[in-house]
Amino acid sequence: MARRPEHAAPPEIFYNDDEANKYSTNSRIIEIQVEMAERALELLALEEEECKLILDIGCGSGLSGSVLEDNDHVWIGVDIAASMLKVAVDREVSGDLLLTDMGQGMPFKPGTFDGAISISALQWLCNADKSSHNPHKRLYKFFSTLFSCLTRTARAVFQFYPENAEQIEMVTSQAMKAGFYGGLVVDYPNSTKAKKYFLVLMTGGAAPMPKALGTEEDEKRIRYIKKREMCREARGKPLKKSRDWILAKKERRRRQGQETRPDTKYTGRKRSGRF
Ligand SMILES: C[S@@+](CC[C@H](N)C(=O)[O-])C[C@H]1O[C@@H](n2cnc3c(N)ncnc32)[C@H](O)[C@@H]1O
Repeated sequence: MARRPEHAAPPEIFYNDDEANKYSTNSRIIEIQVEMAERALELLALEEEECKLILDIGCGSGLSGSVLEDNDHVWIGVDIAASMLKVAVDREVSGDLLLTDMGQGMPFKPGTFDGAISISALQWLCNADKSSHNPHKRLYKFFSTLFSCLTRTARAVFQFYPENAEQIEMVTSQAMKAGFYGGLVVDYPNSTKAKKYFLVLMTGGAAPMPKALGTEEDEKRIRYIKKREMCREARGKPLKKSRDWILAKKERRRRQGQETRPDTKYTGRKRSGRF
């Protein structure tokens, strides 16, 4: 079995210039990270059509942030690896970037963010990289400061790779202790390859837990979504990510005075990667 990156070296060492460049130009990685960020955004359950301020925790080179950008949200990214952030700057991401260790807490004012996502980063906090590191304490510091910088109707969604049941228990118990409620959503639980863990945390309100994908219940949901999309199409609204949807979005951006690339015959074509 391949060695887990978080067992190889601390994140700021593991993600050096070489690794950061390899990571950010590998089309398979890009595709997977984008897909998981899209799912995390869906689980955030934000009101549609509204621009929100989102925190991307362990933002790396901005692959997850690009999904926030594409959905017209404003984002701020934090990461411990300078090389990853350097690639993000070179890619000219729209988010503001902050070099910081999430285990030391989120340094933002109370109620700053409408939501937070974190893709493939949380498992790093379950390891002690220094003798002074206590994963339970670092997780608590992280979750309690995150709770404070979110609004009282916000969610934080973490896709992560827990190593075992003890790590899941450690992470969720520290999150609950910090004031969050919610829990784990496991997509495609019966598939070794497609199985994905999303920790969905809520600060307030009484929203029910979202449903996982790839379960029997989900089959019904897919049928429902298809029906909803057909109704939407019938009402004359372009489907999300279609050429018409992209053209309409670009037009909106132009009206808002935002810099927007000109429309071409390639606008809205299917791409395999992000570059
Ligand atoms: C697999 S990358 C994912 C990057 C990005 N979210 C994406 O989807 O492409 C994991 C990121 O988590 C960051 N990370 C790990 N531990 C961290 C910590 N303690 N504080 C902040 N960032 C951390 C790493 O530096 C790395 O950039």
